[in-house]
Amino acid sequence: MKNKATLLNIVLALVVVVLVYQLSTHKPDKPVGNTVKTEALISQLEQGSTTKRSVGAKGHIHPKPALVIGSYSEDGTPNIMTAAWAGIVNSRPMSIGVSIRPACKTYDNIMAAKAFTINVPSARHVAYMDYVGRISGHDENKFESLNLTAVKGDFVNAPYIGEFPIVIECELTEVVDLGSHRQFIGKVIDTKVDERYLDADNQVDVEAINPVIYGGDYYYGFGQRIAKPGDAYKLFKDDMEPDFQPNTYANSTLASIYNRKSVRHYTDKKVTKEQLTELVKAGMAAPTAVDKRPWAFVAVSERSMLDSLAGVLPYAKMLKQASAAIVVCGDMNKALEGQGQPYWIQDCSAASQNILLAAESMGLGAVWTGVHPIQEREVDVRKVLNAPESIVPLNVIVIGYPTGQEKPKDKWDESNVHWEKW
Ligand SMILES: Cc1cc2nc3c(=O)[nH]c(=O)nc-3n(C[C@H](O)[C@H](O)[C@H](O)COP(=O)(O)O)c2cc1C
Repeated sequence: MKNKATLLNIVLALVVVVLVYQLSTHKPDKPVGNTVKTEALISQLEQGSTTKRSVGAKGHIHPKPALVIGSYSEDGTPNIMTAAWAGIVNSRPMSIGVSIRPACKTYDNIMAAKAFTINVPSARHVAYMDYVGRISGHDENKFESLNLTAVKGDFVNAPYIGEFPIVIECELTEVVDLGSHRQFIGKVIDTKVDERYLDADNQVDVEAINPVIYGGDYYYGFGQRIAKPGDAYKLFKDDMEPDFQPNTYANSTLASIYNRKSVRHYTDKKVTKEQLTELVKAGMAAPTAVDKRPWAFVAVSERSMLDSLAGVLPYAKMLKQASAAIVVCGDMNKALEGQGQPYWIQDCSAASQNILLAAESMGLGAVWTGVHPIQEREVDVRKVLNAPESIVPLNVIVIGYPTGQEKPKDKWDESNVHWEKW
């Protein structure tokens, strides 16, 4: 009896030991917090801490803006100079600080007029911006030399550049002597943006403006969406995914190539005529055999036309939701003769791929829907477009603003590659 009780006690003690051990070493099925996702992302995106080398006391803040400062001299002559040592320094009141050397004409002007403008250049204004950063208003009237329009500020005694997309009128509130430069702090009185770059909610299309970034040895354009504020952080949250997958490609062409996907779901936002023109232009930049350019493009954005195309194309029903399409056609009157004639298909395919990549790079979504070589479809599409017999539609590229449903696929497969020989 006693032996039995001892045995029972031993068994109970063993059970308790096993339970305590299990509880102390138990790992939850799902990790607490975001550990798994975070670790995977860090190894993927950061690859750990890197070795760094000191380069001394340098101003390596990137990106740096390249802005143009407008001011009037005491005799009323308008002047402009480039400044990279500039930025927003306060929110309420909205204030901008810009550091200028006392040797600059702009320095004298701002001290006297107590006002200046900030003019944000587009990449296409880069040469103007560089010029006004090399030549002094002490020596010439830069507005006249460059044939730029000096517009008197509506609110402050300073001129702005009519041709630049964003202009900001500032009233001088403070001057800080920092050494080589004086920092002029200006309270923003008014900001004007070229209407082409504003949407109905006054949001600025920064990508379309393509502002200049000063990078030391080079000026850089900008024009690649990499992530959305308030969205990218979701990568580190287990229960969230960003609407816009952060694009970490440094090369914008590769970014468009790898991020392209066939987009079949679109928002209500309309594709504009300017965008369609740009896409067709990108198509025509493709190479063609013997430079024959044996193509014709039909840009379509009328609802009735898109619906008619959807009606004859069994695999292009998404045309009913899309706001535009481009029909890429071979023009047999321009194609090579004889054996080389089918080269038109390769030429038009290269143009089509350019259009797809350009659409991706412009924030649009597109899908290639096939027509040639299915003869019945060729005849039907020709009929809808009212095109002559010599025109052979290769495809209909359906275009719209993506809803974000479709994601790019990783199609890399090393087994398809043969080095040097099969
Ligand atoms: C990209 C770039 C950035 C510049 N940034 C500044 C700056 O932040 N502050 C400054 O005093 N000069 C800067 N400069 C130099 C002036 O723009 C230059 O001295 C100009 O000729 C002065 O013009 P002004 O004498 O008509 O005022 C910059 C020049 C370039 C090209």
